[in-house]
Amino acid sequence: MDSGTLSVAVLISGTGSNLKAIIDAQKSGRLNVDIARVISNKADAGGLVFAREAGIPCSVIPSADAPSREAHDAGISRCLDETDPDLVVLAGYMRILGGEMVARFRGKIINLHPSLLPKYPGLDTYRKALDAGDAEHGSSMHFVTEGLDDGPLISQAKIPVLPGDDPESLARRLGPVEHRLVVATVELFTRRKVEMSPDGVWVDGELSAGPMMLNEDDQLV
Ligand code: GRF
Repeated sequence: MDSGTLSVAVLISGTGSNLKAIIDAQKSGRLNVDIARVISNKADAGGLVFAREAGIPCSVIPSADAPSREAHDAGISRCLDETDPDLVVLAGYMRILGGEMVARFRGKIINLHPSLLPKYPGLDTYRKALDAGDAEHGSSMHFVTEGLDDGPLISQAKIPVLPGDDPESLARRLGPVEHRLVVATVELFTRRKVEMSPDGVWVDGELSAGPMMLNEDDQLV
């Protein structure tokens, strides 16, 4: 690992297809990252298989067994302290992080969310987009703050809503686009200085006017 390699921890709860996209991009040489640890709050998360196959250290910190959110967060914090990553990526991590945890790692945690935020924080984003009659749906990556899916936006990718779409078809089409978005966004952190401030997101010392958009060449512009 050279000194320019970004150390990344990835938090998951389920299938881990976005984790897999990061692993594949690291293996192919696109991403100069060390995936230092994968943390799951579920012992049966499918993504743990991808991590173990890739030889990545894994920690399971079951949320179901924790007496409180604070206690669970404390377990995650300890694990992150030991790992000491440059960046924490929430990729399908289906727990809300408490304020103390967010404050402790402020500016270092990013989340992937399947909507064009600020539209549709929370769950059922596909249904909400369809019910609203939106012409486009998409995914966002943002810095994690105390609010739910509320932190400064880093990047987005859009797909059209097609006639006859239902939540399942939208989710199916968005999946591969999210994978490209998560890789491009982590890549951004490997190449440029991306910082969160109360004004928004700064990239190489310039305040972004809005989220960077994923183009067809998998670049954020
Ligand atoms: C993704 O759609 C992500 O946007 C959302 O949860 C899903 C996780 O998928 N937060 P996976 O576990 O990475 O396959």
